[in-house]
Amino acid sequence: TTVLILNGPNLNLLGRREPTVYGRETLDDIAMACRAHGDRLRLRVDFRQSNHEGELVDWIQQTHADVRGIILNAAAYTHTSIAIPDALRAVGLPTIEVHLSNIHARESYRHHSFIAPVARGSIIGLGSQGYLLALDALARMIADEQS
Ligand code: DQA
Repeated sequence: TTVLILNGPNLNLLGRREPTVYGRETLDDIAMACRAHGDRLRLRVDFRQSNHEGELVDWIQQTHADVRGIILNAAAYTHTSIAIPDALRAVGLPTIEVHLSNIHARESYRHHSFIAPVARGSIIGLGSQGYLLALDALARMIADEQS
């Protein structure tokens, strides 16, 4: 059983990018923590990042049968993309939205999410811990679906 973790534009710069907002951890640090947590939950973690909206859409469309859920930090595309939530609706996999920062405490253009209505839930403002909480939630959903 695999969980796909997708990260949008500029998240490859984590650690260097606005550390007061996003912290000092790099995306590789977060990927490692997610894989380790996945091991504990018996979930394989496929962790990816792209700066390109269409590539994120391709990855959502191409999910193979072993992928049972998606964790998505769409970064700035959260606030602009219709294609990404359309792709999520098309594949119908349980999806959890994650943001490192509290988007509601920031600029008003970050307050609206096009991802939120298609997500089972959103975990916002808890830093990289949000990814691990999302894995816990997905593990529970996947187990409930199997029973
Ligand atoms: C972000 C919040 C977005 O508003 C921003 O564009 C990002 C990162 C977060 O994880 O806090 O790139 O998704």
